Amino acid sequence: MPKIAITNLAGDTRTIDAETGLSLMENIRNNDFDDLQALCGGCCSCCTCHVYVDTDWYGKLPTPQDDESDLVEDSEHFRDGESRLSCQIEVTDGMTGLHVTIAPEV
Ligand code: FES
Repeated sequence: MPKIAITNLAGDTRTIDAETGLSLMENIRNNDFDDLQALCGGCCSCCTCHVYVDTDWYGKLPTPQDDESDLVEDSEHFRDGESRLSCQIEVTDGMTGLHVTIAPEV
């Protein structure tokens, strides 16, 4: 189980034992981070699972698909080189050390 650090909107960070094969969004929700609404359930249509990936990790993750990029770039809180939709990131072995911060709502 990769250990992934999550920072909530209050700035509190907790490391979770993430489950591979699930999305990062599902892992965040399953570990009781209420700040992440994920309203569409992972259909890549709501942007309420927006997270900031630490810059040293951003390029190590699979490249976002066009629909994810289009959606997240429309967020007023978009940050180039950091913003991802956590429902579009599948947790895999080798992600230990990843740190993401939940972004403010759109
Ligand atoms: S949960 Fe809606 S876009 Fe990720």
